[in-house]
Amino acid sequence: MKKKINKKNNKNLWGGRFIEKPSDTMVRINSSINFDKKLYEKDIIVSKVHATMLSNQNIITKHELKKILIGLTKIEKEIKENKMQFNDKLEDIHTHIESRLIELTGTLGKKLHTARSRNDQVATDTKIWLIEQSKTIDKYLKNLQLSIIEKAEANIFTYMPGFTHLQVAQPITLAHHLLAYVNMFGRDRENNKSLIERHNYSPLGSAALAGTAFNINRDETSNNLGFKSPMSNSIDAVSDRDFILDSLNLCCSISIHLSRLSEEIILWSSPGFGFINLPDTFSTGSSIMPQKRNPDAAELIRGKSGRVIGNYVALFNIMKALPLAYSKDMQEDKEPLFDSIQTIKDTINVMSEMIKEITFNRDKMLKMCNKGHINATDIADALVAELDVPFRDAHMITGKLVALADKKEMQIHELSIKDFKKIDKRINKNIIDKVSLEESVKNRDSYGGTSPENIKKEIIFSKEKWCND
Ligand code: ARG
Repeated sequence: MKKKINKKNNKNLWGGRFIEKPSDTMVRINSSINFDKKLYEKDIIVSKVHATMLSNQNIITKHELKKILIGLTKIEKEIKENKMQFNDKLEDIHTHIESRLIELTGTLGKKLHTARSRNDQVATDTKIWLIEQSKTIDKYLKNLQLSIIEKAEANIFTYMPGFTHLQVAQPITLAHHLLAYVNMFGRDRENNKSLIERHNYSPLGSAALAGTAFNINRDETSNNLGFKSPMSNSIDAVSDRDFILDSLNLCCSISIHLSRLSEEIILWSSPGFGFINLPDTFSTGSSIMPQKRNPDAAELIRGKSGRVIGNYVALFNIMKALPLAYSKDMQEDKEPLFDSIQTIKDTINVMSEMIKEITFNRDKMLKMCNKGHINATDIADALVAELDVPFRDAHMITGKLVALADKKEMQIHELSIKDFKKIDKRINKNIIDKVSLEESVKNRDSYGGTSPENIKKEIIFSKEKWCND
């Protein structure tokens, strides 16, 4: 067992007016140290920047600053090396660090909290942490997009059924289907970028809620912490958790995109589809059925979207009726935030790795294109294009062809010319010949459509847009 420091120090920093100590259960629910210790590096940097500003404004001396900075560096090292004894009585990471500083520097440490409050401190720490995490998430999403684009590139001519209502609808290319996800994760990245830009303003210096009478320099602290500028209303600054709500919202969006992709991986790896082979590294077996190969990684990603959505709902509920400014309810923001961010990072990375290792069964995909009268729309379109039949009528005629094919237990394109003519005399061989999988896919060359020529362009475009920076 390592020897832990600050063992004896368990005094809170606000006890002056109290006669009795808080009850044990109060101490327990009041404590956030178990989870907000994650913010320790941010709390140290925020304290250093604050202390430097106090010195530049002649609120503390250069000499005092030097000692405070040395103390804070030492504390950071102690926490990193797991030497600090965390204690519920010291409530949170801010009090732990400040108490330790007082232990190390005596009265001097008590000056650090001049012109600030834990209210602006916690908002600043959390925001800096979140902005850093957002940048990491962007990097991970970019990786995921890259691994999907690589698979798309190799499957420009891989035909598969496109589905609506999970019923065979029209032929598409696998690349087209995969690139849809690149766009979805692209929107997430854009949301993430705008989230950082919209919230990149510093709460520090707002103190408890009303600002401070000390001659502080909020521009300096804001600059030194990498913010665009200080938040302009101190009450808003300490009450605002929109940056966390926006982030939880974004996590939900990423999560449902991942969940939809997972769902397809689960479906496609089942024998009914057989479109993909899952790598061993992302599957598990059954303890009783020796043949099983279960898509657990995809199932977990799908399942975890539930908790990410739960975290979002939790914080919206916590915030919905809070009066301004700070209330202790807001301490409940961190667990949902930390959990969602960790879950999102893990699930993006698992998905990226899994996508890289998935292999596709092209013949199974092709085979399913021979089901569900996949070419029916092509026949209706050909009736319009070749015979000038209004589309609604063409739809009706093709519907009858489908019914006939069903009766004969055939696919629509397998009907004989005689069968076609039975339904509508005008149909000729010319029209029927035009109806093939390749033609169907090739001809859907409207902007955004599935044709391989379009897809080649979309791949170039996607690489430039998403993978260049
Ligand atoms: N641990 C608190 C939180 O996360 C810090 C702010 C405490 N402020 C207060 N006035 N008690 O919200």
